[in-house]
This record gives sequence, C-alpha cells and structure tokens, in this order.
Amino acid sequence: MNSRDVKWLDIPKILDERGNLSFIENGTSLDFDIKRVYWIYDVPGGEIRGGHAFRKQKELIVALSGSFDVVLHDGTTSRRYSFNRSYKGLYIPEMYWRHIENFSTNAVGLILASTFYSKEDYIYDFETFVNLAQTK
Ligand code: TYD
Repeated sequence: MNSRDVKWLDIPKILDERGNLSFIENGTSLDFDIKRVYWIYDVPGGEIRGGHAFRKQKELIVALSGSFDVVLHDGTTSRRYSFNRSYKGLYIPEMYWRHIENFSTNAVGLILASTFYSKEDYIYDFETFVNLAQTK
C-alpha cells in the first residue's frame, strides 16, 4: 500500500469460538514503519477530538471498541468515515485535516502513527492548512 489516497484496510480476523483476534504487522500491512501507537478512550458524549492536520504523519486508525466517525478534509472536500468494526483500519496519509466525533460509550480508537510525537508536525489553523494543501 503506497498512496496519497485515504483507504480502508481489511485487517486479518482470526475467528475463534473463544473470541476473535486481529493483528497488524510492521512492514507488511502498512507503507510506513510504526513509530508510535496511541489510543483515545473515555470520551464523554458529544466531545470532538482532533481538529488539526499533520504535515508528515501518516496513520492508521482502528476502532478497537465501539464506534465513532472520522471526518477528513483534503483542502477541497470533506468526507466522513464511520468506524464500528475492529477489523477495519483507515489509512490516512499526511496533510489531511481531521477530527473525530460521534463517539459511542466505551469507544476506543487506536492510532498507529508513522512518526514520533512532534508538536511541529501539527497544523492547528484550518486556513493555513487549506493554503498549504492547495499549493502542494
Ligand atoms: P492531540 O494530538 O492534540 O489530541 P487530539 O488530536 O485528539 O485533540 O494531543 C493531546 C495532547 O496529548 C497534547 O497535549 C499532546 C499530547 N500527546 C502526546 O504527548 N503524545 C502523543 O503521541 C499524542 C498523540 C498526544
């Protein structure tokens, strides 16, 4: 997988009567090395996370539990992606404005990131993002 496009990834799902199992391996499932893993959880009803873009960070988002929506803007148009399966991952390249909303109770969002945390990688101003995205 190597693209500027956002895409859903089918994560392997090992069905088992004892409970299902899914996995992602560095180097085979993604076009980036996983440098960091973080997760969003205990989100109070109605809250919104994100509201920024990353200059360099690529990521894969998975709903480990519950459901939520990821809304992406590429500088021109916006699209909503609904998460409610723990075997679906959304690959998001750098330079997409994103926010996450509509969290269900007990939702857990896992993010596999291509970079270590860097405050400088964030774009917090939407107008700056649109200008940068459109001149890319
Ligand atoms: P932020 O990415 O702004 O959260 P969201 O996009 O969901 O609103 O991060 C919130 C805070 O957590 C911010 O102070 C930076 C810190 N943080 C880290 O220290 N390391 C990390 O890997 C992440 C993602 C955030």
